[in-house]
Amino acid sequence: MELIIQNIKKLVQVEDEPREKVTGKEMSVLNCIDNAYLVIKDGLISDFGAMTNQPAVSPNAKVINAEGKMVFPSFCDSHTHLVYAGSREIEYIDKIRGLSYEEIAKKGGGILNSAKLLHNTSEDELYAQSLERINEIISLGTGAVEIKSGYGLTVEDELKMLRVIRRLKDTTPITIMSTFLGAHAVPAGYKGRQTEYVDLIINEMIPRVAAEELADYIDVFCDKGFFTVDETERMLMAGMKYGLRAKIHANELDYSGGIQVGVKYGALSVDHLEFTGEDEIKTLLNSETMPTLLPGAAFFLGMEYPPARKMIDAGLPLAMASDYNPGSSPSGDMKFVMSLGCIIMRLLPEEVINAVTINSAYAMGISHTHGSIAKGKVANLFITKPIPSYEFMPYAYTSRLIDTVILNGEVV
Ligand code: NIG
Ligand code: FE
Repeated sequence: MELIIQNIKKLVQVEDEPREKVTGKEMSVLNCIDNAYLVIKDGLISDFGAMTNQPAVSPNAKVINAEGKMVFPSFCDSHTHLVYAGSREIEYIDKIRGLSYEEIAKKGGGILNSAKLLHNTSEDELYAQSLERINEIISLGTGAVEIKSGYGLTVEDELKMLRVIRRLKDTTPITIMSTFLGAHAVPAGYKGRQTEYVDLIINEMIPRVAAEELADYIDVFCDKGFFTVDETERMLMAGMKYGLRAKIHANELDYSGGIQVGVKYGALSVDHLEFTGEDEIKTLLNSETMPTLLPGAAFFLGMEYPPARKMIDAGLPLAMASDYNPGSSPSGDMKFVMSLGCIIMRLLPEEVINAVTINSAYAMGISHTHGSIAKGKVANLFITKPIPSYEFMPYAYTSRLIDTVILNGEVV
């Protein structure tokens, strides 16, 4: 099957020589082709260029006319918790009344509340609820998503979550990577016995997850009030024995040492990073770890934002993701994430587009196949409505600007 998109006003984020990520100053460069065509064959991008150079169109090809419209590679959302049961708007009210995220967690709310809801929800129902969220983010332009476990917190419930993620992988057209996050919180039954819970993760959960090949990565919430650096080290080492590379929740609530321990163990990404100082920046500069910002969580919780401008100016790459979850970011809207990057973190439109495509693809280990318009990459992309410029995307921050979504070369 051949699909050709013609007369594209601007083809955004094109690469002749695919890169695995873009760093520092390069982040403000976005390669585009005006008045372009794009050819898709067998689900992959096979050719693109300026209309003036378009080769003859084969009579069997399906043709889409994109006059006035732009084509972007799909967003890659490299950090979500979108498999969860129910919702937590009651805590949202507590928050409005003035309780902090940590205070809500201490009251038995937060992650433990979601764990209770998940325990009482069947695997089929959990799949159905999660599928709705997947369909929602597909319509919002996301073409690849990482999903974490971490609302199970028992062997069986963690496996239940990961099996739902696998079922979503098997039944939906979006690319999914899955992450085991048993160390999201200490479950109620292990209160005061945190070390025993860490032992359970190491001795039972990780081997079972690996035996069923349910996860691509391992994550730990390494932060004040959650897991310590020492515990994180133990769990990362255990995961690495089974080939699970780390992606860490770090420095959301404090200078937790999470960034340093992530880099030490070769984490693919360290995420959140609201508490990032000179030391953390220096550590990241000497690494292959992608600093990943989740501004939707800082927005929703009314907390500090990470020093994004400073990080790029220091020469770091940045990725951004939605953190879609019921407690700190009940939204998977990557276009809004871009707007937060621009409006609040003072990033340029080019920088945020790089952060939600090629760099977030890197942060989920798929930048060789996703995250840009390049020959041979998976044809996950979207056609916008008629828009004046690519800057209009983060600027018009509540407008629905996506016209057509294409995943694996097929119109969804
Ligand atoms: O990334 N920080 C840890 N975990 C999630 C929140 C999960 C929740 O509150 O349910 C986050 O923000
Ligand atoms: Fe998270």
